[in-house]
Amino acid sequence: MTPFDYEYLRKLLKERSGLDLSADKQYLVESRLLPLARKASLPGLPELVQKLKSGAEPLTAEVVEAMTTNETFFYRDKVPFDHLKATVLPELLQARASRRSLRIWCAASSTGQEPYSIAMCLKEFGPALAGWRIEIIGTDLSQAVLEKSRAGLFSQFEVQRGLPIQLLVKHFTQVGELWQLNSDIRAMVQFKQLNLLQDFSHLGAFDVIFCRNVLIYFDQETKTNVFGRLAKRIEPDGYLMLGAAETVVGLTDAFKPYPERRGLYMPSAGTAARAVGAAMPLRAVASAAR
Ligand SMILES: C[S@@+](CC[C@H](N)C(=O)[O-])C[C@H]1O[C@@H](n2cnc3c(N)ncnc32)[C@H](O)[C@@H]1O
Repeated sequence: MTPFDYEYLRKLLKERSGLDLSADKQYLVESRLLPLARKASLPGLPELVQKLKSGAEPLTAEVVEAMTTNETFFYRDKVPFDHLKATVLPELLQARASRRSLRIWCAASSTGQEPYSIAMCLKEFGPALAGWRIEIIGTDLSQAVLEKSRAGLFSQFEVQRGLPIQLLVKHFTQVGELWQLNSDIRAMVQFKQLNLLQDFSHLGAFDVIFCRNVLIYFDQETKTNVFGRLAKRIEPDGYLMLGAAETVVGLTDAFKPYPERRGLYMPSAGTAARAVGAAMPLRAVASAAR
């Protein structure tokens, strides 16, 4: 691949998915795209680039998908899910007591482990949420990961990463060598294709947005742009959860860190109205609801 071919691919990926590749990532592009070139019966990457230049749209989408990193696992990093159970849900139980509904968006949901971990947290929350209308939406750019998510089928290796054994026994059924999430948990999550670079105002407003481990691939300008639009999709007293290596600091004033909760943010617009940490402890909320 010539430096011009690499530049063409870098620009294409930046425009299509936000992926901001540095000049030294040629090996990564080659290792991900050579199999795709072979599949398309092309001898190599120069020919693949030629084909892309001629406007082969399905191939362009395949190239963009092939360059996504889909690493994920159940209860990834643990801390966000502890925050969800100990801070976010107890506070929302009080704030939404009259409405009795919750909307949660997992933007960049990859193969589904993250939104399904959220669904299991809600299920495990017990009777406090009984009768509530719960909507969890998982979105991703890649059709391939969305298909896998919808099937809810995971390998032994995948369920061994991060998923406590008691939740495996409780919420999964063994199907041959795979494990399938039971239909009650699967039914809690809807999956849709969505590119974070494009308009997502049609999704409406959410109480909680998980947007983890995707903004790290974007440049600063793109991160700021996405943060600005995410802020418009969160209720003023809602929550944003970012990945362990991500922050809003220096990128946007639309969100502020939630005190003493790493990775958890709240819209700046709503902080005056919000009584941070005012929620009853989890056990008190659960028993009050019984
Ligand atoms: C590393 S995974 C993170 C998955 C999950 N959020 C987690 O933290 O475990 C990143 C995901 O972001 C998706 N992605 C990349 N660019 C995207 C974009 N512009 N819009 C939506 N999703 C994108 C990829 O397809 C991939 O599944």
